[in-house]
Amino acid sequence: MHDRLSAHRQSAVKSVPLVDLQAQRRRLGKRIDDALLRVCEHANFIMGGEVAEFERRLAEFCGTRHALSCGNGTDALLLGLMAKGVGPGDAVFCPTFTFAATAEVVALVHATPVFVDVLEDTFNIDPDSLINAIETARSARLRPVGILPVDLFGQPADYRALEDIAGQNGLWMFADAAQSLGAQYRGRWVGQITEMTATSFFPSKPLGCYGDGGAILTEDDELADRIDSLRIHGKGSNKYDNVRIGVNSRLDAIQAGILMEKLAIFPEELAARQLIAHRYSEGLRDVVRTPRIPNETTSVWAAYTIVVDHNRDKLAAGLKAAGISTAIYYPLPLHQQTAYKDFPRANGKGLPQAERLAQSVLSLPMHPYLDEATIERIIDEVRGLAGSG
Ligand SMILES: Cc1ncc(COP(=O)(O)O)c(C=O)c1O
Repeated sequence: MHDRLSAHRQSAVKSVPLVDLQAQRRRLGKRIDDALLRVCEHANFIMGGEVAEFERRLAEFCGTRHALSCGNGTDALLLGLMAKGVGPGDAVFCPTFTFAATAEVVALVHATPVFVDVLEDTFNIDPDSLINAIETARSARLRPVGILPVDLFGQPADYRALEDIAGQNGLWMFADAAQSLGAQYRGRWVGQITEMTATSFFPSKPLGCYGDGGAILTEDDELADRIDSLRIHGKGSNKYDNVRIGVNSRLDAIQAGILMEKLAIFPEELAARQLIAHRYSEGLRDVVRTPRIPNETTSVWAAYTIVVDHNRDKLAAGLKAAGISTAIYYPLPLHQQTAYKDFPRANGKGLPQAERLAQSVLSLPMHPYLDEATIERIIDEVRGLAGSG
């Protein structure tokens, strides 16, 4: 008891970051240093051996035939759309409550992102709103071609419902799994659920590298070939044989070397995230709305996000004053952003759940190295502040 109290007091003086990348760095230490040095020694910085080996291990981890790495998660989405030949006149359906990259890539290939509302309890794309959005797109004389669901905060979208809608409307699905690598949905791993899946290795993601990185997962040999060509300037039999217009988007060998070390401990880290999320939910569910994870679905807890119906900003300020970092993902849905407000949205109206969530979500510190005393301190602070209104 005495030990626990003093641990609690000790942690009370430290500030708590949202994600603590240094804690993992301390754990992996020399393994990362050695991985970096190996690349410096062989000097194959672009598409060196680490890249193919990391792709092999990533595909094995996700249970997919192909894993194609690239420069970042945004490019992973872009390459997938390019491989599908998406272009002008095409409508691609995206949730509005997401990071800008999801819709940005649709606009970049000169197609039209059509915004869909989300479900208030899972934060993921709302199937009913999607049906409305398909109607909206048809009325605007756009050609509905595909759905870009986002697995927000690490939790897969409701793919069973989406598959039905996609099937009925002849749409493909391409998952934005930037936040959900390693999660499962009804017996399938992220990467096995949709025809293509994009992910990100941005440093703060559950599997992050030491810079930018991303990957596309697919079972489809033809798509994999096309993406492999597109990521290296549309190469054919070699990089000086250009058979299509592509981009330059490759994962650095240094990042692949780092990611292999991180992938080796990723399952353990996911288990730690799970325990922390469980502690948060147990400790907070009677004072704020805690995340709902549906049956047969797991989250990798890229973020642990609570919904605070009143005085969210006051709670965030109180936590900040207590040295606890929080974040608002996302303060403004995409259909209300300057760059995206003129694109169509379901019903042509507001998207009320997303608009409400933007006012009430708050993400708490989440990473696998949060210790018990710190978790307890965060829970106590949230309870004190949320309880006091
Ligand atoms: C939902 C979502 N999509 C796409 C991206 C883009 O990934 P990146 O930053 O690696 O380009 C991110 C992450 O930043 C994201 O959270």
